[in-house]
Amino acid sequence: MLARFLCSLILLSALAVGAPAPQVPGYTDADSPFVQTPLPITPLATSFYPDSQVPVRFNHMLQAIQTSPASEPPRRSSDVTGPTSHGPYEGTPTTTGAEMASTTLASTITELPPNPTATYYNTNGKLQNPEPAPYIPAGGLGTNGTLPRYMVESDFDYESIALGLYQEWIELDLFNNGLAVFSEEDFLSEGLTAEDRAYIAFMAIQETGHATLLSNMLGPAAPPQCTYNYPFRTVREFIDFNQKLTRWGESGVWGFINHLDSREVAQMLAQSIATEARQQISFRQMLGLFPQPVWFETGIPQSWAWTYLAPYISSCPENATRLAWQNFPGLHFENQPNPNRFSPNDTQPWEVVGNRTADPSDSLIPTDEQCVNLNVTGFGCGPAITRNRSEPLSFPGKQVNFTWDNPGQQVGPNNSYVTSTQAGTPQFVAWVSQLNVSYTPLEHTGDNKGYTYQPADVVYEGDPAVNGTMFVALTDTDLFVTPFNLTMINPHVAALGLYQAG
Ligand SMILES: *[C@@H]1O[C@H](CO)[C@@H](O)[C@H](O)[C@H]1NC(C)=O
Ligand SMILES: *[C@@H]1O[C@H](CO)[C@@H](O)[C@H](O)[C@H]1NC(C)=O
Ligand SMILES: *[C@@H]1O[C@H](CO)[C@@H](O)[C@H](O)[C@H]1NC(C)=O
Ligand SMILES: *[C@@H]1O[C@H](CO)[C@@H](O)[C@H](O)[C@H]1NC(C)=O
Ligand SMILES: *[C@@H]1O[C@H](CO)[C@@H](O)[C@H](O)[C@H]1NC(C)=O
Ligand SMILES: *[C@@H]1O[C@H](CO)[C@@H](O)[C@H](O)[C@H]1NC(C)=O
Ligand SMILES: *[C@@H]1O[C@H](CO)[C@@H](O)[C@H](O)[C@H]1NC(C)=O
Ligand SMILES: *[C@@H]1O[C@H](CO)[C@@H](O)[C@H](O)[C@H]1NC(C)=O
Ligand SMILES: *[C@@H]1O[C@H](CO)[C@@H](O)[C@H](O)[C@H]1NC(C)=O
Ligand SMILES: *[C@@H]1O[C@H](CO)[C@@H](O)[C@H](O)[C@H]1NC(C)=O
Ligand SMILES: *[C@@H]1O[C@H](CO)[C@@H](O)[C@H](O)[C@H]1NC(C)=O
Repeated sequence: MLARFLCSLILLSALAVGAPAPQVPGYTDADSPFVQTPLPITPLATSFYPDSQVPVRFNHMLQAIQTSPASEPPRRSSDVTGPTSHGPYEGTPTTTGAEMASTTLASTITELPPNPTATYYNTNGKLQNPEPAPYIPAGGLGTNGTLPRYMVESDFDYESIALGLYQEWIELDLFNNGLAVFSEEDFLSEGLTAEDRAYIAFMAIQETGHATLLSNMLGPAAPPQCTYNYPFRTVREFIDFNQKLTRWGESGVWGFINHLDSREVAQMLAQSIATEARQQISFRQMLGLFPQPVWFETGIPQSWAWTYLAPYISSCPENATRLAWQNFPGLHFENQPNPNRFSPNDTQPWEVVGNRTADPSDSLIPTDEQCVNLNVTGFGCGPAITRNRSEPLSFPGKQVNFTWDNPGQQVGPNNSYVTSTQAGTPQFVAWVSQLNVSYTPLEHTGDNKGYTYQPADVVYEGDPAVNGTMFVALTDTDLFVTPFNLTMINPHVAALGLYQAG
């Protein structure tokens, strides 16, 4: 224990000493060598055809695709053309509970000292080991010439990618569903154009590719698409739900991707989650929020992503592969800041459309309290590349009130999963954002009811940790965890919510 403490102390002080000095101390002189007059913007074109004709030759690939589209790698799902069915599940589940192995070895994972091989430390910037070949520094995984195998390599991999696939499937359905249930006029009245609709349609088609990729890396029992039950009633609420759902979709992957056994699978997954990250930013922009109010996107455990997702799946086809992850009880914010208000402080209690943890904020507030069609800088929140909100959605020191559910609720496809917790009475509120977990004391005010104050912690100087769409848990202890061992918090989680801090 002492040795470990000393070890991390040495590491920390070494890092402090070793940090390079800033290279750019400040821009003291903003003069530039070029003339700073706005470029003329007129005259503008009034006729657009014909273009110049550029040389082109039909190559073999192009011809093959044009004559036989079947030569393209097949997708597991086609583009949606007809209606899909939605709504709550009314039946009785034929099975309940998470997927389990025939044997479970212990009730929790125990903490261990650092891996004995984790010792590399470079103080002089020189190569410390022989290079395997020119221009190739020693080390890395999958760098020694072995052939890649793009398949999951463990139960951990399988369950993580299967969870990712459940997520890709709902995104595919959700984006299409919003386009189907709301008209072009509905979108226009909230400031979104036909071109924005086309963009959302493109995002849906991206999901067919992601779902195909993940299915291929799982093999024959890859879960299929399910039927969903959505909370939104307006375009704003659809967009709000999308920015929340893609937030946990993205963060869910960041939480496990570096723990995967298969680096090959992680490679492909990273390349799909990069587009999911772009989707999340775009939905924030469509909601008139600041597109990226943090310096780091956070990673969350799989069971958290599954907790957020499951309440929106009404049923899955018979024999759909089930997941091994936990569903935690829901945490509900009484004063969840409403991004549809120009004055978030005026948000009324329970201004959300329902009591599932990721339900969007109510957009049907009086029009003179809304910001969506307000053309006033600092107060307007219509779709834009970026918006400055003069009044922040939330702020350090804000009293945040909540209620939470008891375990034992049926959730997820066919109501066939059951919420559970291994934690004792909750004592702390864990704010999981960016690279940090900050704990604030939980004050109980009644049965499953309480409050706390938003913390003022920073990641690095100038970067408040708590911002954006972020993750909040009630815990029975203030366990110290960091991004690579956050999952160790799970046995201490009593309830889980999603907070719109900015
Ligand atoms: C090559 O690297 C992999 C890990 O990436 C390792 O499992 C394997 O044993 C190595 N093969 C050889 C021949 O060194
Ligand atoms: C879930 O419901 C669907 C539709 O009713 C049914 O086909 C399927 O077998 C059910 N699955 C479970 C696990 O109950
Ligand atoms: C589900 O699994 C059972 C048992 O393996 C099998 O008899 C049944 O045909 C399967 N149903 C479907 C729709 O695949
Ligand atoms: C919102 O409430 C906080 C805390 O009471 C206060 O400091 C802030 O000024 C309020 N915002 C506005 C715009 O009044
Ligand atoms: C959510 O739950 C709270 C307390 O349990 C209740 O007061 C509130 O009306 C509910 N809100 C909705 C939208 O159902
Ligand atoms: C807001 O400004 C935009 C762009 O100038 C304009 O098209 C729109 O009609 C304005 N909306 C309102 C409600 O004034
Ligand atoms: C937007 O916010 C930034 C940072 O808070 C501030 O420096 C800037 O002046 C604001 N710009 C406008 C147009 O409100
Ligand atoms: C969150 O980020 C936005 C945009 O930079 C900023 O205006 C707001 O004050 C931030 N909130 C906190 C609590 O720092
Ligand atoms: C939060 O709870 C406290 C204590 O129960 C109460 O005084 C306060 O009015 C509540 N605030 C909101 C916004 O509901
Ligand atoms: C937040 O995380 C950063 C990076 O790991 C760390 O340096 C900082 O001390 C953490 N802040 C808090 C309040 O825990
Ligand atoms: C998580 O990792 C940090 C080091 O980054 C360590 O100090 C902490 O004790 C670990 N937490 C658990 C519960 O293992």
